Amino acid sequence: MTKNKNNRAIWGTRIKKKTSTLFQKVGSSINVDKRLYNEDIIGSIAHVEMLFKQKIISFKIKNKILYGLNKIKNEISNNKFEFNKKYEDIHMNIEKRLFQIIGEEAGFVHTGRSRNDQVITDFKIWIKSANKEINILLDKIIKNTLKLAEKNIYTIMPGFTHLKNAQAISFAHYLMAYIEMFDRDKNRFKNNLNSLNENPLGVAALTGTSFNIDRIYTTKKLGFKKPTNNSVDTVSDRDFVLDFLYSVSVCAMHLSRISEELIIWNSDAFNLISLSDKVVTGSSIMPQKKNPDLLEYLRGKTGTTYGYLFSMLTILKGLPLSYYKDLQEDKEIIFKSNDTLINCLEIFNEILKNFYPNKKKMLQLANLGYITSTDLADYLVINHSMSFRKAYQKTADIVNLAEKKKKNLNELTIDELKKIEPKLTKDVLKVFDLTNSINSKKSYGGTSFDNIKKMITKYKIKYD
Ligand code: ARG
Repeated sequence: MTKNKNNRAIWGTRIKKKTSTLFQKVGSSINVDKRLYNEDIIGSIAHVEMLFKQKIISFKIKNKILYGLNKIKNEISNNKFEFNKKYEDIHMNIEKRLFQIIGEEAGFVHTGRSRNDQVITDFKIWIKSANKEINILLDKIIKNTLKLAEKNIYTIMPGFTHLKNAQAISFAHYLMAYIEMFDRDKNRFKNNLNSLNENPLGVAALTGTSFNIDRIYTTKKLGFKKPTNNSVDTVSDRDFVLDFLYSVSVCAMHLSRISEELIIWNSDAFNLISLSDKVVTGSSIMPQKKNPDLLEYLRGKTGTTYGYLFSMLTILKGLPLSYYKDLQEDKEIIFKSNDTLINCLEIFNEILKNFYPNKKKMLQLANLGYITSTDLADYLVINHSMSFRKAYQKTADIVNLAEKKKKNLNELTIDELKKIEPKLTKDVLKVFDLTNSINSKKSYGGTSFDNIKKMITKYKIKYD
């Protein structure tokens, strides 16, 4: 043990032997949680101001501590701070440096608080700003998707179920489906903000404190809505971490689904979209290749975000109340999850500007697979007063006939159609037109061009 008191761990009086090198290596989290330095200083400033207001520390001490904290903040942001693994984490590193700067009076900063409430306070403040950054990126993605949708209102493609042609839709309607998902993602992150908006500071180690602290004051100072209710729960609770990790996973899953679709559509078999050279990679052996690696990257990273969520769920399962070192894992998990999503959102935003629908191919494919069959069945119900089930069967007979004659539905003659349903007149032929088909889906939320235009306007107002 070194003689220099200032160089010792805070608990050096009680724990006499030097921490084993191995334990020091694994026990230290400074490389991960130094990312919380700004939040830690914000939390300490609010705490110290409250201690002064409550007459727990003097004006002079408060000012000295505030001076020290601000100096530390500058040092860290200018890369002039020496982080020391020996002091475990960001909280102890800052406290230790405070002693070096202002001397013994630094000892007052930790009055009535513990690292247990300190770390959650820092973490919640950090998540709030991470949330904002994700929101900004989601806004950008929504705006760029809207732009693409606006250009493609009349781009006709097959809508799929089971990856088989189902009914004709507008490509814009398809894109707008993803806007719904991204909009829900935004709400999910917003809801998290509401539920994490309770101030943990002041619950101390697990019981609260005997100092006459004012938690309402720090709540206001730190921008929380109310103080947490129960000190034991506060120290143990990481639900807000799970909420964030879940929201990241769902958002990544949406990116993964659209990536998967674009990969399929970009395949030579489908050829419904083209990717610009900016977002493809070549093969080391096959000279002709342009591979959609970036989209595959997004799909892969989604699996990784699920891993972070499951890590945290597993850590919490069976963990008794209140604080245990296990909980320290939460920072690394959330930082990685956040960074992965930010990266994926940025990449996806690039993809949005770098792919093009092959409109001709989309239309060609939409004309295959007897895609207007449901329109024909609907027509029979409306114009020949049949029950839907009866009309469904008549239409199936017509599809069988077309298949036998190796024709598309729109290639059948009126005489051929009449053989199956004598009541039919030439008027029926209009149902095989894809534009008519799309335009007839006027029910709220359907793919009619009018509906799409209204939805685009609605979202443009919301995201302007
Ligand atoms: N670095 C610790 C963490 O993130 C801070 C809390 C430490 N508390 C304790 N009782 N050891 O979990």
